[in-house]
Amino acid sequence: MASIRILSGIQATGTPHLGNYLGAIRSWVQHASSSTYFMIADLHAITVPKEPELLAQGRFATAAGLLSAGLEATSAVVFAQSVVPEHTQLAWLLGSITSMGELQRMTQFKAKSESLQETASAGLFTYPILQAADILLYDADQVPVGDDQRQHIELARDLAIRFNHRFGDTFKVPVATFPPVGARVMDLQEPRAKMSKSAKSRRGVVLLTDDDTAIQRKFRRAVTDSHEEVGYDASGRPGIANMIEIAAAVRTEPVEQAIERYSGWKYGKFKDEVADLVINLVAPIRGRIAEFQESPQELRARLGADAERATHIASQVLRRAKQNIGLGEF
Ligand code: TYM
Repeated sequence: MASIRILSGIQATGTPHLGNYLGAIRSWVQHASSSTYFMIADLHAITVPKEPELLAQGRFATAAGLLSAGLEATSAVVFAQSVVPEHTQLAWLLGSITSMGELQRMTQFKAKSESLQETASAGLFTYPILQAADILLYDADQVPVGDDQRQHIELARDLAIRFNHRFGDTFKVPVATFPPVGARVMDLQEPRAKMSKSAKSRRGVVLLTDDDTAIQRKFRRAVTDSHEEVGYDASGRPGIANMIEIAAAVRTEPVEQAIERYSGWKYGKFKDEVADLVINLVAPIRGRIAEFQESPQELRARLGADAERATHIASQVLRRAKQNIGLGEF
């Protein structure tokens, strides 16, 4: 059986957080093979203003995070989007079959552009088209992501189907896949909002570079509720529910099992327990990230070689798309 082709990506905004890891990166590592493609979305990261130096740092930290989280030891293709120009080229072709209405319905655009209004960049608006190009360029069967990416993957599917219908069979129609637990990790300070790198405060966000003390402190200060003992109620007690889900995800057990395990625990003891689980998970990753920061040669070599592997596939698929749309060679 041919191996399953996988593509997924992460914005180049800096060290990944616990949500990125449990929602996406961990399953990338689990499924990694030479037909899996994991992309640092650096072109997506410039849709909001960025200082060049910070962008470069964010891009490096993202790559270091992915490799250190386990991809280094696999044959997966790890590369930066901007290095493979086929992404922007296919995005243009797909943009021509995408309606304004489809883009206006994207909840992430609505959320991100709310404070910017008229000053929001056109790139922020057309972002989902580039994301569709990322996916379709690799003939991906599956796109492993966290819950917040549902709508974007749905658009990629719609565009693939539309293109195939108008111009003949060109793209594989991908499906999104989600982890059984951890698809939506919430901010420890604002448990009704997802954990996000763009959060105003880092106090509720656990980074893969956080040291043991920082992790422990973040969990100890995590917002809970007026109860004293652990019990699961996703809507009424979101802080505790989030920590139960984090514990279940780290232990790779169903949420029900974690609920049974921790029900009745005093909050203090429970928070320390979840912090310990996360500390054990993060410590080795953090160590490897520090090594990459110290000596970046291996990272550069890996990303350079893998960009060639990515280009190999992407150029074939782009050629096919251009051919079918009527832009083949004279
Ligand atoms: P990004 O950078 O926001 O997130 C990367 C991955 O992490 C997941 N994730 C989460 N999972 C659980 N809980 C959270 N709090 C959490 N926050 C983030 C995301 O769902 C995602 O899987 N547009 C994408 C990047 C991208 C992409 C692609 C993804 C660009 N091209 C092609 C898939 C395919 C993004 O901004 O992800």
